[in-house]
Amino acid sequence: MLSGLSRSLSLQKGLKILGTSRSIINTTVIRNSYTNNKIKIKMADLVEQSKKLAAYSAVDDNLQPEYKVIGIGSGSTVVYVTERIGQLENKQNFTCIPTGFQSKQLIIDNGLKLGSIEEFSEIDIAFDGADEIDTSLNCIKGGGACLLQEKLVADCSKRFIVVADYRKKSPEMLGHAWKKGVPIEVVPSAYNKILRELKLVGGNPTVRPGGAAKAGPVITDNGNFIIDCDFGEIPVNKVKELNDKIKAMVGVVETGLFVGMCKRCYIGEVDGSISTLKTNAGKL
Ligand code: A5P
Repeated sequence: MLSGLSRSLSLQKGLKILGTSRSIINTTVIRNSYTNNKIKIKMADLVEQSKKLAAYSAVDDNLQPEYKVIGIGSGSTVVYVTERIGQLENKQNFTCIPTGFQSKQLIIDNGLKLGSIEEFSEIDIAFDGADEIDTSLNCIKGGGACLLQEKLVADCSKRFIVVADYRKKSPEMLGHAWKKGVPIEVVPSAYNKILRELKLVGGNPTVRPGGAAKAGPVITDNGNFIIDCDFGEIPVNKVKELNDKIKAMVGVVETGLFVGMCKRCYIGEVDGSISTLKTNAGKL
């Protein structure tokens, strides 16, 4: 039995959840098991539980009743963010801004009001996931190829909150746990030139393939390619410098390095607790 997951959540004053039940955790799903197969199932459940706990806690701690515009990130952890926001009684009082196709669907499916970044360039708060987070809360994002719109929404937000499970927290630097490289969105015609330039600054880049159902590369929501570039482990004090170098390459639209943008991060830990990581930099 997993203990400690049923942390009682306290909503911001003035916010109410629709319905009566506020239980978010099924505490019976995880049991001791003796076969490898069962352990695998247990870990998958644990990851999902920690994503959900981080997401619900972040919403409950940070969403203020007076907020009118909310940014919604992309990925599997944000599914729980929108689920929680969709439970709010006042959900018709604010507008949600998506960061891509999946995010738009989440907003619609949870009965939330959909807006666009073109209409609302000032956002009260945004919630998003991350692929890896360093000790200064710099993040690698873009594992789901949504980094451009995610960074646009984060940049337009007064507060940018990251939610993640325990696997995403790097003990020190980016590139420690996330081995797929830094996602970089590029204009298709520039990809070959950018591959060459990334190698010159010490990277090992590859164009992200579309997978079994798509011949050729992944095409982003903005019609671009993604290059994943492995730079090894990136020291905390070198992240900005690296980001600046990549951004200076003609044809790069945006990078998945989110430098100094996040000031508060919610991590669902392996033991069922929540860590709230804070830094003086970033937006809060
Ligand atoms: C989408 O492009 C990404 O930036 C996601 O926010 C990131 O990959 C985290 O996704 P998960 O919550 O699914 O891990």
